[in-house]
Amino acid sequence: MSKKYVHGYDLRENIRLQDQASTLVELLHSDTSYPAGSQVLEAGCGVGAQTITLARNSPNACITSIDISESSVAEAKKRVEAAGFTNVSFQPGDIFNLTFEPESFDHIFVCFVLEHLARPLEALNSLKNLLKVGGTITVIEGDHGSTYFYPDNDAAHQAIQCQIELQKRAGGNANIGRELYPILNAVDFSSIYVSPRMVYVDASKPHLVEGFTKNTFTAMIEGVRESSIEAGLIDENTFDEGIKGLYRTIEMDGVFCYTFFKAIALKQ
Ligand SMILES: C[S@@+](CC[C@H](N)C(=O)[O-])C[C@H]1O[C@@H](n2cnc3c(N)ncnc32)[C@H](O)[C@@H]1O
Repeated sequence: MSKKYVHGYDLRENIRLQDQASTLVELLHSDTSYPAGSQVLEAGCGVGAQTITLARNSPNACITSIDISESSVAEAKKRVEAAGFTNVSFQPGDIFNLTFEPESFDHIFVCFVLEHLARPLEALNSLKNLLKVGGTITVIEGDHGSTYFYPDNDAAHQAIQCQIELQKRAGGNANIGRELYPILNAVDFSSIYVSPRMVYVDASKPHLVEGFTKNTFTAMIEGVRESSIEAGLIDENTFDEGIKGLYRTIEMDGVFCYTFFKAIALKQ
């Protein structure tokens, strides 16, 4: 994992991941479903926010979900079992050092993980070794540089830039979405298909105003307030102005846009 996982593992972050996942289910998952009997690896499952949808959309696939954080894996297991799914098994594991036999999986699914890794190419290579020839990898990542909104607000851009910079200092890349094609290409995946998935939010979509602009994106930026100020990236007033600017976009005349990138590629 990167030096310091920028979002942390606290309860607030877990709730944010759940909000993010439930708000974006249709946009990110509607075209992900694995055939009966296929072996699927979910790498970096976190607290299981995406695992529930994977399990629901592929009820007869055998899903193995791993994460480097033992406590996240335990939480994911609890949630998935509580939701009544029996097609997922969980284990702690590091993407760079997994002990599965080579070519054990028909499909691999990775969501919001590469952005936190200092060596995403090496991670993809490790995962590729676990994939059967003819198998697919699905990678979903955000790209904070894709954020724009109305009314525009310079302080809000500066606050977002703090998150990007902190993630970079921790070894990650908050703008990795735009790089999915080149990095999958660099590790020799073929038939790479990347689709940008834009979240467009205005007041006519109250569930996105709450679930995405407020509880996913703005909550994430608010979460780096102290570390940004401590690191000397911004002063308190500008940061708080920026957060106010982000909240301003959820008013009746506000608009907020963000683009995720979903890539599907084949091992040949
Ligand atoms: C932003 S969370 C995403 C979790 C989940 N995929 C989701 O979309 O809600 C990133 C996860 O990647 C995990 N992670 C980071 N480095 C890892 C590694 N080397 N091996 C396995 N998991 C890792 C973290 O522990 C964290 O749970």
